[in-house]
Amino acid sequence: MNATSVSRGDTARDGRAARIVVWDAPVRLFHWLIVLCFAGAWLTADSEHWRLVHVTFGYTMAGLVAFRLLWGVVGTRHARFSSFVRGPRAALRYLGSIARRRPEHYTGHNPAGALAIVALLVLAVAVTASGWAAYAYLGDSAEDLHEGAANAMLLLVGIHVAGVLVSSWLHRQNLVKAMITGRKPGAAEEGIRRTWRGLALVMLAAVLGFWWLEWQSAPTGLDLAPLAATPTAIVREPGREGDDD
Ligand code: HEM
Repeated sequence: MNATSVSRGDTARDGRAARIVVWDAPVRLFHWLIVLCFAGAWLTADSEHWRLVHVTFGYTMAGLVAFRLLWGVVGTRHARFSSFVRGPRAALRYLGSIARRRPEHYTGHNPAGALAIVALLVLAVAVTASGWAAYAYLGDSAEDLHEGAANAMLLLVGIHVAGVLVSSWLHRQNLVKAMITGRKPGAAEEGIRRTWRGLALVMLAAVLGFWWLEWQSAPTGLDLAPLAATPTAIVREPGREGDDD
């Protein structure tokens, strides 16, 4: 990992720092899909009516995290855990550099952000595993664990987003935009060579295919209303077939 006091990057002909690709396409897709899944699962958590949607987002999140753990070992330079996971001492040093208003620069994740990222991934595993246990066995303790882990994750997401905004402001760099485009200003040798767009497309197809299969299996396709209905409400009276559609 490369911390420099200030990175000027290569300078393009117009005098602005050249933009290099830092985040490959699978990392970006993983990120925004996990945001969608967490938000969707959170919003549908308390409703029987949306149970299938909630569970589908949960399984998707588990799959995404499994992919990210693998990609953290075999993925591109800045996606690899070995390139950004550092101990608490490096995180404290980075926070100290912020307090002195001379923030250390990192092309990939900074060490404090990296701690939050690792904790988010661990919590995502805890949330999805406990959710699965609660759904499969209806255990009260698994449900309590599921709720606790989800609340802790929400808190950490708040810290993560605040950290991203503060870091963007301190470094005068739009980090959110970088997580969309994959690009940041920087030296050419710090960039990645392949964006792995094909792999991201396969991921997207797998996720959409999974959602389609899940929602196909709902009693009436995408109309999930019967899931919320009491058993008596979905038993049709003889002789009244078709007159309630
Ligand atoms: C459920 C909510 C969220 C979760 C679970 C989450 C998780 C993560 C994870 C795991 C990473 C590391 C990306 C990787 O290397 O694979 C990351 C990075 C990042 N996230 Fe989030 N995130 C969430 C919400 C958000 C939101 C709402 C924003 C935008 C405001 C955001 C902006 C970013 C940015 C900019 C980075 C890159 C930080 C850097 O440059 O080091 N995240 N997030």
